[in-house]
Amino acid sequence: MLVDGSPPSGESSEEIVGIASDADVVTARHTGRRVAESVGFTGSDLTMISTAISELARNIIRYAVTGEVVVSPISEGSRVGVMVVARDNGPGIPDLDLAMRDGFTTGTGMGLGLPGARRLMDEFAIASQVGEGTTVVVKKWTRGL
Ligand SMILES: Nc1ncnc2c1ncn2[C@@H]1O[C@H](COP(=O)(O)OP(=O)(O)O)[C@@H](O)[C@H]1O
Ligand SMILES: [Mg+2]
Repeated sequence: MLVDGSPPSGESSEEIVGIASDADVVTARHTGRRVAESVGFTGSDLTMISTAISELARNIIRYAVTGEVVVSPISEGSRVGVMVVARDNGPGIPDLDLAMRDGFTTGTGMGLGLPGARRLMDEFAIASQVGEGTTVVVKKWTRGL
């Protein structure tokens, strides 16, 4: 029996990418694309998933310096998809509502990374504690056969 959120095979096939440099951001994007392809995503969905991963990984570099991105195949009933967890032990985000607004940035960015990732994916959750770190969890489901 498949439990919600478990990999289709029942065995863990999550891919963990440590994030500490721009090269790691590229690795995370490619890893996400590969896992997404393995569960059946194609075309623009692959671009959306890798773009979301890229934004979350860039935020780790920019604001938390280091962290990790974990990409996993997921299933729920008959649907399959990918889950991306981006987490760090950085400074945290004091006001999540503000951080999720289009155009809000404390840096030199466009302030579209977090809201963009939310739009690109089907599910989005963010948890953050000042002084503890930030965890973003996003999921996307295939449209099925
Ligand atoms: N991992 C993180 N750790 C701490 N702060 C973060 C993190 N990710 C995002 N933020 C905060 O949320 C804001 C909005 O992020 P984002 O939408 O990606 O825009 P940008 O990166 O262009 O500033 C950032 O400016 C930063 O203040
Ligand atoms: Mg950003």
